[in-house]
Amino acid sequence: MQVQLPDFTMAYEISGEGRPLVFIHGYPLNRTLWDSQVSGLSDVAHVLAPDLRGHGESTATSGTYTMDLLADDVNNFLDAVGITQPIILCGLSMGGYVTFAFYRKYKSRLAGLILAATRAGADSDEAKANRQKAAATAREQGASAIASSMLPKMLAPKTYESKPDLVVHARGMMESTSVDGMVGDLLGMKDRPDSTLTLAEIDLPTLILHGADDQLIPATEAQAMHTAIKNSKLHLLPDAGHLISLEQPVLFNEAVRGFMGTS
Ligand code: MLT
Repeated sequence: MQVQLPDFTMAYEISGEGRPLVFIHGYPLNRTLWDSQVSGLSDVAHVLAPDLRGHGESTATSGTYTMDLLADDVNNFLDAVGITQPIILCGLSMGGYVTFAFYRKYKSRLAGLILAATRAGADSDEAKANRQKAAATAREQGASAIASSMLPKMLAPKTYESKPDLVVHARGMMESTSVDGMVGDLLGMKDRPDSTLTLAEIDLPTLILHGADDQLIPATEAQAMHTAIKNSKLHLLPDAGHLISLEQPVLFNEAVRGFMGTS
């Protein structure tokens, strides 16, 4: 499905009925990150999974994709598809950064949060410099160079041998991301605000999901968010790296089902 937003066309998946459950993918990925959730949670929720601008089948714009801009896109998407009921918003990694921005801007639209494989802090100076280098690599060498450099850290070490189809899927998502999308994300993530102070303010039901073997964002980040967000629930998923929705779809969906039942 596709919908026209003010400055780009957004592609999305939709399934099920009931409480809206909106999934936001990370960098440099797309909505197929959520294939198992779109099919596996449609009996308990109205599942929506958009491609962010510049990703998957959504069209790209040039310039910096600030986390606020991407949160505005999610807000416009909800309006465009007629969602008026409070949603549960699930963001993975950069999708989590967008979730924090959405919380600050559009809290009244939210019934709950799911923070997946993400962190609250801003980039260190070293991380900012690495974002600039990656943006130059994307511009000069294209998406496949970024895919090759990120692929070895995207999944749990064991997953590369046990689930070769996921390795192909992860590479395919990254290679199909537009260069404008990659650069836009990198510049936006580089200057994203520190959300640590937001954690203490969060008073919505919150589920934190993280892979025990995440090589990109260590599980200690999830533990820190759990400590700071009152009444949050934390599930560490075994044998899972950064792409937990793909690496542990059954455990991921079970945790979300349990959360939906209580929020
Ligand atoms: C992501 O998966 O969205 C990114 O790895 C997040 C980041 O680079 O900070």
